[in-house]
Amino acid sequence: MVVSKVPKLASAAEYFFKVGAEGKKFRPTVLLLMASALSMPTPTSIAVEVASSFQKNMRTRQQRVAEITEMIHVASLLHDDVLDGADTRRGIGSLNFVMGNKLAVLAGDFLLSRACVALASLKNTEVVSLLATAVGHLVTGETMQMTTNAEQCHSMEYYLSKSYYKTASLISNSCKAIALLAGQTTEVALHAYSYGRHLGLAFQLIDDVLDFVGTTASLGKGSLSDIRHGIITAPILFAKEEFPELQAVIDKGFDNPANIEAALDYLGKSQGIERTRALAIEHANQAIAAINALPESDSEDVLIFRRALVDLSHMVITRSK
Ligand code: FPP
Ligand code: FPP
Ligand code: MG
Ligand code: MG
Repeated sequence: MVVSKVPKLASAAEYFFKVGAEGKKFRPTVLLLMASALSMPTPTSIAVEVASSFQKNMRTRQQRVAEITEMIHVASLLHDDVLDGADTRRGIGSLNFVMGNKLAVLAGDFLLSRACVALASLKNTEVVSLLATAVGHLVTGETMQMTTNAEQCHSMEYYLSKSYYKTASLISNSCKAIALLAGQTTEVALHAYSYGRHLGLAFQLIDDVLDFVGTTASLGKGSLSDIRHGIITAPILFAKEEFPELQAVIDKGFDNPANIEAALDYLGKSQGIERTRALAIEHANQAIAAINALPESDSEDVLIFRRALVDLSHMVITRSK
């Protein structure tokens, strides 16, 4: 799907789809599990061959949504690494580091265009609208993070809405798209959306913890990168509730490494990391509640896939990379 006749563009676009560079493939995994978790028995009145070809076709379309979602995700990572001036990603050189900013931006645009073509081939305007909204949210979240004013940077509400746009919107809207392609009701589609939303928020909260407690080697990307970029995340926001003096440190900015050290001291003395983990656990539990709210099924397979989605929410909060 990402081939190009122009050799430089081809190698840039393929870069993060090569063996060893594909990342955790977390989003496609979630989406294909969701597809299986929502599968419905076909009425016995329908001939077996017809039913099986119908199911296969539906599965192909759902798989396409998983592929599109990963392409959008990788496009956003390519652009993100340009914005962040990152030199590593997925344990290898970031594309901007290896091929320069210009090709990294263009490769991101190209992936996005390939995702649009694949999306159009589904011929479902509601699904197009969901994923197009998610792309807009990625840009909105990234811009919110980049343009935070002094008041917003101290607000947990602003942080959480930014996290929804930047992180949870893509997976939640894609989960909803999977449910719609399965012919599920609006109510079921909303449970699928809710699972993705809470899973995404839990994922981002843990990401923000790992930025403080992980190492470059364990994460495959830089650590302490948020605070170095002046980005205030949940652990610091919670620490500031315990130590209001931290506010003055934040207000001085983090260009001076001494201020980073001071903020880390306060964070170490506080419950900031623990409280962020606790909030992530709350969201993981809400994700599990959404799975438990799905209509009953007596298919053993469907129940296994639902259990896998529940297990994934546990993995999100216990992950170390
Ligand atoms: C990673 O954040 C960034 C994102 C998930 C979203 C980035 C979105 C854009 C750059 C908007 C452009 C979007 C498209 C679809 C082209 P991070 O820097 O906090 O995480 P990291 O540690 O993995 O770099
Ligand atoms: C890297 O994603 C990007 C981030 C950690 C910042 C934004 C996070 C997301 C967009 C996560 C979306 C949430 C869910 C629940 C899927 P990554 O760590 O997944 O990178 P990878 O693709 O390299 O594994
Ligand atoms: Mg980044
Ligand atoms: Mg970034």
